[in-house]
Amino acid sequence: MTVNILRVDGSMRRSGSRSRKLASALIERLQGLHDGVSLQKRDLAEGLPFVDAPWIDANFTAPSERTSNQRSVLAYSDALLNELKEADILVLATPIYNFGVPAAVKAWIDMVTRAKEAFRYTPDGPEGLLTGKTAYIVLTSGGTKAGSEIDFAWPYLRHILGFIGISDVYLLASDLNGIDPGDADAAALQRILTLSGLKPTQESMAPRPSQRQELISA
Ligand SMILES: Cc1cc2nc3c(=O)[nH]c(=O)nc-3n(C[C@H](O)[C@H](O)[C@H](O)COP(=O)(O)O)c2cc1C
Repeated sequence: MTVNILRVDGSMRRSGSRSRKLASALIERLQGLHDGVSLQKRDLAEGLPFVDAPWIDANFTAPSERTSNQRSVLAYSDALLNELKEADILVLATPIYNFGVPAAVKAWIDMVTRAKEAFRYTPDGPEGLLTGKTAYIVLTSGGTKAGSEIDFAWPYLRHILGFIGISDVYLLASDLNGIDPGDADAAALQRILTLSGLKPTQESMAPRPSQRQELISA
């Protein structure tokens, strides 16, 4: 069975990017673990639009009632959403920018987190619709420790992915690389090499509580 991997790069650097290097190593490892892998790439450094008023109008118009102009307004968002829907594994590689995700990563999230497509509201609360996927977040930082109280990228990504139904989310961090680049990257690469299946085995990549569990306990 072919495994579909969607790779999304959020670093605005095309050369010298640590998150891209680690994402490549992770994907190489995943390719070695599966007989057939189909890889789709989405490089956010190419630029992408922000949500704007025409987009909102089009998105909140019923699909059957959208004008051809509204359909074309949503075409790019549709393409991003379809890539994510088709993926079995999401590899989202991103640096921390100013304690959160880069603007391009937020723009990508806004393009794919569409009501009735990625999530819906039910009498029991929100329900994520993009289930059955695994996500790896490759997170790099200069001086912000991943998972610390000043890291707003990882908790945000974990939350939003859980919200759209992807609760199997793993963190692969090469953090604090402004302080000690060699160590952080080497440790992250070592964790990649220890992946023995779809699921990470190392404690540092252990699954976090699912969004659903967090919502229930909130
Ligand atoms: C605009 C900008 C803002 C940044 N803000 C932070 C930050 O808040 N915390 C941090 O630890 N590193 C910050 N960094 C450093 C990057 O997270 C770090 O260099 C990371 O390795 C970049 O990923 P990349 O190598 O894949 O491009 C920032 C870098 C840039 C360009």
